[in-house]
Amino acid sequence: MNPNGSLFFPAQSSTLAPEVDGLFNFILYLSIIFFILVVGGTFYFAWKYRKKGKDDFTQDLSHNNTLEVLWTVIPTILVFIIFVWGFKTYLKMNVPPDNSMEIKVTGQKWFWTFNYPEGATTTNELVVPVHQPVRLLLSSRDVIHSFFVPNFRMKMDVVPNRYTETWFEATEPGEYNLFCTEYCGKGHSEMIGKVKVLSASEYKNWLASAANAGADMKPEELGAKLYKDKACFTCHTIDGNPLVGPTFKGVFGRTEKLTNGQTIKVDENYIRESVLEPQAKVVDGFQPVMPTYQGVLKDKEIDALIAYFKTLK
Ligand code: CUA
Repeated sequence: MNPNGSLFFPAQSSTLAPEVDGLFNFILYLSIIFFILVVGGTFYFAWKYRKKGKDDFTQDLSHNNTLEVLWTVIPTILVFIIFVWGFKTYLKMNVPPDNSMEIKVTGQKWFWTFNYPEGATTTNELVVPVHQPVRLLLSSRDVIHSFFVPNFRMKMDVVPNRYTETWFEATEPGEYNLFCTEYCGKGHSEMIGKVKVLSASEYKNWLASAANAGADMKPEELGAKLYKDKACFTCHTIDGNPLVGPTFKGVFGRTEKLTNGQTIKVDENYIRESVLEPQAKVVDGFQPVMPTYQGVLKDKEIDALIAYFKTLK
């Protein structure tokens, strides 16, 4: 285990990381050795057999049995080692252990949603217990994304209309970066998150409180939390500046011109519709790129967002 990372890698924080790095380093050092042998040999022979005079001819060579056997057998053995090592690791990475817990991951432009067995949901933050295999069942609601946690040496494409799976077992509590690593449009570089690894008991407490999050909050407080947690801020500011979408400052009660030429006064129904069916009435001057939050936000949470918007004067 390397807790601090190396020149090429961040710290190893999953059970698979040492194996992946081991194979990487083996191939890297092997390549360096052969680079030196081949390039060094090329220069050496170019110098050794350079033409020294007008009548200086190098004697013709046809072949050398010993050399030919050596440079066939040794690389074959090395390639075979790489194959067996790689295949074993590949199998291990692709078959989740039987005692895995399962978390559903949904990628969409441009955030991640995580659904836990007990009904808890998080956005852009995956919370897991340490020393517990976790199977991820991944799917996309729009284009191809890719789920990448460098510390775990884990990466899996997230594809629309089908599930992909992968798994990991975190070995150290802490916070790790999560990236989308498949170019998925304008907000790709902001499709980032965290993996939070907790101890088993911390995780149990977290899960219990996350399952009824916001129960003890005022609606507008919950709305403010959701604005942050569900990554609304990626596209909508609250300071009056438009981003990918219109600003939320003063949004409630505002009269907006729509792309179809009509105008509309922003009320509870318009907000609700725009959350669930974003393409129904798009504000003039903006692209119809917002994803639906159907299945992401509960009715109570949409109410909370509306309450929050009312406070953004
Ligand atoms: Cu999602 Cu890039």
